[in-house]
Amino acid sequence: MDKMWSGRFSASASSLLDKFNASIMYDRKLYKEDIEGSLAHAAMLAKQGILTTEELILITDGLNQVYKEIEADEFEWNIADEDLHMGIEKRLTAIIGDAGKKLHTARSRNDQVAVDFRRYVLRQNLEIVKGLKLLMQEVIVVADKHTETLIPGMTHLQHAQPINFAFHLGAYLSMFKRDIARFEDSHKRNNISPLGCAALAGTPHNVDRGMTAELLGFDSVSVNCLDTVSDRDFALEILFNISTMMMHISRLSEELVMWSSYEFGFVELSDEYSTGSSIMPQKKNPDVPELLRGKTGRVYGALMGLLTVMKGLPLAYNKDTQEDKEGVFDAVETATISLEILKEAIKTMEVKAHNMESACGVGHLSATDLADYLVEKCDIPFREAHFITGRAVAKGEELKTDISKMDFKYFKEIDARINEDVMPYLGLRHSMNARTSEGGTATTRTKEQLEYFKTYLKETK
Ligand code: ARG
Repeated sequence: MDKMWSGRFSASASSLLDKFNASIMYDRKLYKEDIEGSLAHAAMLAKQGILTTEELILITDGLNQVYKEIEADEFEWNIADEDLHMGIEKRLTAIIGDAGKKLHTARSRNDQVAVDFRRYVLRQNLEIVKGLKLLMQEVIVVADKHTETLIPGMTHLQHAQPINFAFHLGAYLSMFKRDIARFEDSHKRNNISPLGCAALAGTPHNVDRGMTAELLGFDSVSVNCLDTVSDRDFALEILFNISTMMMHISRLSEELVMWSSYEFGFVELSDEYSTGSSIMPQKKNPDVPELLRGKTGRVYGALMGLLTVMKGLPLAYNKDTQEDKEGVFDAVETATISLEILKEAIKTMEVKAHNMESACGVGHLSATDLADYLVEKCDIPFREAHFITGRAVAKGEELKTDISKMDFKYFKEIDARINEDVMPYLGLRHSMNARTSEGGTATTRTKEQLEYFKTYLKETK
């Protein structure tokens, strides 16, 4: 009968219940947030005259000691204590005596856990933003070297139009920048203090919620306590934001896996970030991007898990909510290491520019340019130009020649209106550099885009 809530019970909890009910094995991760929350709460209670100065000193010293014990790995985490909140409070009271029992005045574990978990999530939003920026920086270093390197631009994984490799990487820079905006936006929206909401309805004690909010670094105080103690939108948001970020990482990873194959040969991952096979001595496997692709699945799982936990809960707190943490912890750890290892893999990979450019020599990548030529120089309506170009492509297929290398006489045969000045239009580099519209692949435009990302990173440091 040593539970903090045992007053109305006459029999002890079964050890099976302890095991099932406890979150202390994983929520102990929040000890820093929990102790900081208690320090702020105690300071506020003292300022409001609810605790005496002596009690505040005892509590503050006691909490600092508990903090040191945890840091030194001397703290005894016990599942019979159920969660970190009760584990820490129990230890505090063991150290300082009766004053420890006053700490929970005007507070419930419901607002306590909401404070701890929310602050953890808010901090992680910003940590992930840092990781994303470092990744972007590394992508820019590679992109800067390849604003002229041709690579087949694809749709349906079929050769479409020639682009440059920096432009391709620029697409991912755009995605990562949007990801950052999502984490920042979520951070701003959820930077609201739950402390003082107590169990669900607020408290009759004369608390100063603004003071604890400020001490804990929150922007403001929540508006409705019933909502606050059961709101886990902030956790869902970080899961969604990580999921979207991992989806982007996974798409890039899929490309890295493909590009590392003999068939593509566009990149070679460094030995440091590749693995071998236990049976096939020749193998060099792209495990890093494969795992990044695979880990995306578990993050989606965490998002779906928590959405499902929350969907049927009547107001306000329900124990189901305790299931909110493990998925988020796992997703945050996955996101953090994923960003770091992707950055290293990109930094150390070899870009095989020559292979990228040779791959552009097949698949008639400049077909659209021929059609554009017919429109521009021969005044042929685009639909007809499309058909004529199709005939040229068919001829190229027949001759097993890419139209960029096909002899002029064949074009003339297909349509007499075509003149010799068509030839530059068919050049792959010309094709890439012709796409000068805003956001286009032309080297000049690509450089402009890289500048945009560099300025963004500089200005948001
Ligand atoms: N361990 C709980 C959780 O993580 C803390 C809140 C418990 N509150 C309660 N009334 N049982 O959600």
